[in-house]
Amino acid sequence: MPRLNKLLSPRFLLKSFLFVTITYTIFVSTTTLFRQPTIKQYKKLLNQQIKHQFNQWYYNILASDYQLDTNKQFLKDVEVIREANLLSDDKNQLWDIKPDLNVPLSVELPEYLTHADSLKPIIQPFDPRLTLSVYYQYIEMNLQQQQQEENLKLPFHWSDWLDLSKLHKYIFNPVKYDLCSSMFNISGKAELIEGSKIFNISTYCEFKPNSVLGYNITHPSGAQTRPNRELLGKSYLYSAAPSPRKLIFLTNESSYQFEVQDYQVNNVNNSILYNDMIQEIANPSKVNVLDSYQSLVRSHPPSSSQNSDHQPLTSQTLHLPESLFSVDAPALVQELKQTPVEELSMMDRHFLETLEFSIGCFSPPKYFAEAKFLKKIKDHWMGEHYDWRFYNGLIIGKDEQAIVLHRLVKNYLNFARENGIITWIAHGSLLSWYWNGIAFPWDTDIDVQMPISELYKLGRYFNQSLVIENVGDSYNQFDGMGRYFIDVGSTITHRRKGNGNNNIDARFIDIDTGLYIDITGLALTTEPAPSRYDNFIEMDPFKKKFIMLNSKPNQLNHKVKNEQLKVYNCRNNHFSSYDELSPLVLTLVENQLSYIPSNFINILNDEYNMGSLSKKTYRGYTYLNNFRIWCKTSALSGFTRTTSKLINKHAKSEYELLKVNKLSIDDHLSLLTDNNIFKEWFKTMNFTNYHNLELKEIINKNFHKAGKLLDEYRKKYKLGNGLRPDYFINLIMFDNSRYDYLMQANDLVKLQKMYNNNNKKSQ
Ligand SMILES: *[C@@H]1O[C@H](CO)[C@@H](O)[C@H](O)[C@H]1NC(C)=O
Ligand SMILES: *[C@@H]1O[C@H](CO)[C@@H](O)[C@H](O)[C@H]1NC(C)=O
Ligand SMILES: *[C@@H]1O[C@H](CO)[C@@H](O)[C@H](O)[C@H]1NC(C)=O
Ligand SMILES: *[C@@H]1O[C@H](CO)[C@@H](O)[C@H](O)[C@H]1NC(C)=O
Ligand SMILES: *[C@@H]1O[C@H](CO)[C@@H](O)[C@H](O)[C@H]1NC(C)=O
Ligand SMILES: *[C@@H]1O[C@H](CO)[C@@H](O)[C@H](O)[C@H]1NC(C)=O
Ligand SMILES: *[C@@H]1O[C@H](CO)[C@@H](O)[C@H](O)[C@H]1NC(C)=O
Repeated sequence: MPRLNKLLSPRFLLKSFLFVTITYTIFVSTTTLFRQPTIKQYKKLLNQQIKHQFNQWYYNILASDYQLDTNKQFLKDVEVIREANLLSDDKNQLWDIKPDLNVPLSVELPEYLTHADSLKPIIQPFDPRLTLSVYYQYIEMNLQQQQQEENLKLPFHWSDWLDLSKLHKYIFNPVKYDLCSSMFNISGKAELIEGSKIFNISTYCEFKPNSVLGYNITHPSGAQTRPNRELLGKSYLYSAAPSPRKLIFLTNESSYQFEVQDYQVNNVNNSILYNDMIQEIANPSKVNVLDSYQSLVRSHPPSSSQNSDHQPLTSQTLHLPESLFSVDAPALVQELKQTPVEELSMMDRHFLETLEFSIGCFSPPKYFAEAKFLKKIKDHWMGEHYDWRFYNGLIIGKDEQAIVLHRLVKNYLNFARENGIITWIAHGSLLSWYWNGIAFPWDTDIDVQMPISELYKLGRYFNQSLVIENVGDSYNQFDGMGRYFIDVGSTITHRRKGNGNNNIDARFIDIDTGLYIDITGLALTTEPAPSRYDNFIEMDPFKKKFIMLNSKPNQLNHKVKNEQLKVYNCRNNHFSSYDELSPLVLTLVENQLSYIPSNFINILNDEYNMGSLSKKTYRGYTYLNNFRIWCKTSALSGFTRTTSKLINKHAKSEYELLKVNKLSIDDHLSLLTDNNIFKEWFKTMNFTNYHNLELKEIINKNFHKAGKLLDEYRKKYKLGNGLRPDYFINLIMFDNSRYDYLMQANDLVKLQKMYNNNNKKSQ
């Protein structure tokens, strides 16, 4: 129970007064305004709203608000704690908040790359610093020679773009065994495969004793074991997968876009190891990826996109034309078909093929394949969160997961905004934005939506493209080296659930790990809308009549009804109405510019109910409102002096929450001695503080004010910067063997000699 003096505080009295007033107002309006058959549903909604208000107060009255961000003494104490944390950081957990941090961005080139006559290994180690430097320099050189951006085609092989080192032992071993039968064929292992759907090995694995790898993985495999899982995806990329059709190099405000040479063939001769890129850029002995990026951007900024469809989105609010939610696919096919084939771009030719396939397809096959594990394997469901081709081991629950998801959302949002693709975060991602602007720590993927016309744009101009993060930021510092594959499904003309195989329309996939963003398109369809929208018809006699006139008796015309309601759905039957979505409003998601539906509260209420907007404990996490972060509830117990006895590992009940809400300022200081809590708070505090201010304005529809806050934030803080480090740099900070490229390369040459000698001896 709150203490008496708290009950009499002006703050509390004001809150109580507001609560009573609003409850009364809502009560009066429910009983007088809508004496309609639909009154039940309205009441339900309003009750929920009351409950939300109540919950918010209930939880916030209990919570202390210490205004830590402006508490001078607290901030002084934090400085002391920071120094102590850094001194005792023997696990290097705090490397990315070290004040004198020097990110290792240079690599020395091994001799075999720069001297034509020295022995080359069959494959070289992967390092994005090398690959990106070489590509930036190669692009700069070509643009220097008056090549137009549209005409330059780049060579490509997957081995330069992700880590295939798990294949090395099969590549280097000159003796090729039939691994299709001995390792990948699991169909004889009855107790292991029980309950799982596995594919016949001969549908995806070919024994190829004369190839470099010795076998060829040609298709997805169905459920598999964990060790096989990684090899299958990597093997596919090494010798079967086509290249991306386009490479899109992001900058901090635009992007370079190039087609890939011979993108349909997979040929290792197109990798940096064998192609002539290094010779053409004059055999540098050392490269620095940030220098190469900046040199290119300064000498040849990206030519602004020729297509007026692709202008970057910049306005504070975006009023969506209703036409964005319907596309006439057959008409588009006609239009493309009437263009002479030689005048169609490569991308348009592929898109036309897909549209024709989709229109003619009645039972769409599942398009995406995930890293499915055998059901007998512990945590087998986790595989569903990875694309099978890029799967690189489970990272769900590890630090890398938050890093990858953050960089995914950062690059997706920037790619889309800079290319004029209208999109917004949805479902769980929208809910987490509401809280503090940042994904929940327990999230395993990211959901976004776009109008159907924008999905067509994504498919037509960007399907099978590889997006490369901007290596430099707006402040001339290192940003990141993420790489993302855009994959758009083959049946996007289907807008209903159908056989349920393709609820997801497209994915934006992190190629280091296989984690992805699910993209769904919203369209006007014939799918029956949920009953929550019926009020709008009931209350509008004209609409009601129009729908009846356009329907047969006992057979509602749902297309007309949806049109009148202006409701749109994805292939998984999630509906949103025009009024819930439009206008979109500019905001920051994880410190990146993004749009969100301005009536997000309605959307979240439909999907999660109001409780999810106020309940501060979930899945073993507790929201610390003074830090504005979700923290493992178990981590709280060891660090809070006054309450440690009361909070056990499963602090879930409201009684215990009340204790968490009573943490003193000193308790907060001692929480910060935990490196993980410290780092999370320290990196996000300025952004989450902004988020809270902005959220208030957006909820009240003061978009102009929200825009002003954004301008102020932009002046004071580094808008657009990553809140979490680059995946690769983080990796080499913990794994010294990956730090020094030259050493790895030389080791690989030695390994190759060893295998060759062994082979000679045994022959
Ligand atoms: C795969 O294993 C099954 C069961 O042991 C066997 O019948 C089949 O011949 C094997 N297939 C290949 C291609 O090795
Ligand atoms: C697997 O496919 C091959 C080739 O299509 C076929 O000969 C074989 O009988 C199939 N094996 C099983 C177990 O279905
Ligand atoms: C592997 O299979 C793919 C797809 O069938 C083919 O394009 C590629 O040339 C094959 N590679 C090898 C080394 O056999
Ligand atoms: C790659 O190039 C080498 C040397 O030019 C050639 O012998 C080899 O056949 C090529 N490999 C492929 C897969 O085209
Ligand atoms: C992009 O970065 C450059 C510095 O490299 C800076 O001058 C420019 O203002 C930045 N653009 C944006 C939109 O922040
Ligand atoms: C995207 O490309 C893949 C691979 O070629 C293709 O199967 C799919 O149909 C394409 N999707 C669209 C929308 O063009
Ligand atoms: C947050 O803001 C403070 C004060 O403006 C600044 O000193 C600090 O560097 C900022 N922190 C980050 C991580 O940007």
